[in-house]
Amino acid sequence: MWTSSKEIDSPDEAAVGANFGAGDKMRILVTGGAGFIGSHMADRLLKEPAFADELDAVLHIAGQVSLIRSFSDPTFDLRANVEGTINVLRLCLERRVPRLLYASSMTVYGHAAALPTPEETPCRPASYYGITKYAAERYVHTTAERLDLDFDFHATSFRMYNVYGPRQALDNPYQGVLGIFIGNILRGEPLTIFGDGEQSRDFVYVDDVVDAWVGALRNPASYGQVFNLGSGARIPIKGLAMGTLAAFERNQASHPVLHQPARPGEQRHVEADTTRARTILGWSARTPFTAGLADTILWARGAGENVRDAAGSAGRAVR
Ligand SMILES: NC(=O)c1ccc[n+]([C@@H]2O[C@H](COP(=O)([O-])OP(=O)(O)OC[C@H]3O[C@@H](n4cnc5c(N)ncnc54)[C@H](O)[C@@H]3O)[C@@H](O)[C@H]2O)c1
Repeated sequence: MWTSSKEIDSPDEAAVGANFGAGDKMRILVTGGAGFIGSHMADRLLKEPAFADELDAVLHIAGQVSLIRSFSDPTFDLRANVEGTINVLRLCLERRVPRLLYASSMTVYGHAAALPTPEETPCRPASYYGITKYAAERYVHTTAERLDLDFDFHATSFRMYNVYGPRQALDNPYQGVLGIFIGNILRGEPLTIFGDGEQSRDFVYVDDVVDAWVGALRNPASYGQVFNLGSGARIPIKGLAMGTLAAFERNQASHPVLHQPARPGEQRHVEADTTRARTILGWSARTPFTAGLADTILWARGAGENVRDAAGSAGRAVR
């Protein structure tokens, strides 16, 4: 089952040094460092770069993130999320890395009975993606709890909700509903709402997520723990579509909105109970959605300019 650690080598991995005060330097490997969340994590850690000899921590953020793709290509999803995590664990054991932080997901809960949902809620994923994120989370914690390890290996997982912010994909129809809507508006395309639009999501700003990860990195109270990272508020998808249009000074009358049947594996309502993160990490999301949305749109307008420049005379309406 274990494969060579070479298999996880990729341009997407970033080994960075970071100084966490009092002259303590850490050498940290960020997997998925070229992705949306991973790039913000690497930026933060690089603010005070200083390289030590050994790897002190791995932040395992790389993964297949599309719920839709998990249904269309479950083998790819399984390999990227489960086998990829096993490969990362193998590296940690081989190199005796003392610390691993893992990017889990709120999709592990499936149709959770409790809203807001605390971490002790039973996990019954409703999508193949949720299954692989949960399986990987269990591999991480079961490995950290192994009695046969001859070194201290501490793991923490973060069940992240809908993370949004600058650098999220604007052109991937399968990933990140806010980025999809913003990309649609920038390109003059209709917005598509699946199902009745009353399904709701908990949006958490990427900087807040980075705060939680960095705050947990050297906090022994977080060892062995799983934390929800959400804002603790729900936004219906229809409301999100209208709010995003309004931020571009548009509405349903001036911009087409299509409706299509609900897709498989979608949770109905999603809302994080973040009591555990508040109690143990002293963390709570601090960015109001309106402020985070404004920052994301500001960034996206710049990205939109680049897309428009690249499109040249194709000349699709951008604003
Ligand atoms: N964005 C969210 O709302 C959200 C919510 C919960 C959990 N997560 C998890 O957070 C992580 C990062 O998500 P993101 O939104 O930044 O997505 P992203 O697609 O921007 O980043 C994922 C990165 O992982 C890389 N990757 C994928 N498979 C790989 C492999 N086999 N080997 C090496 N690299 C690989 C991709 O190239 C990409 O750069 C994922 O594990 C995802 O499951 C994201």
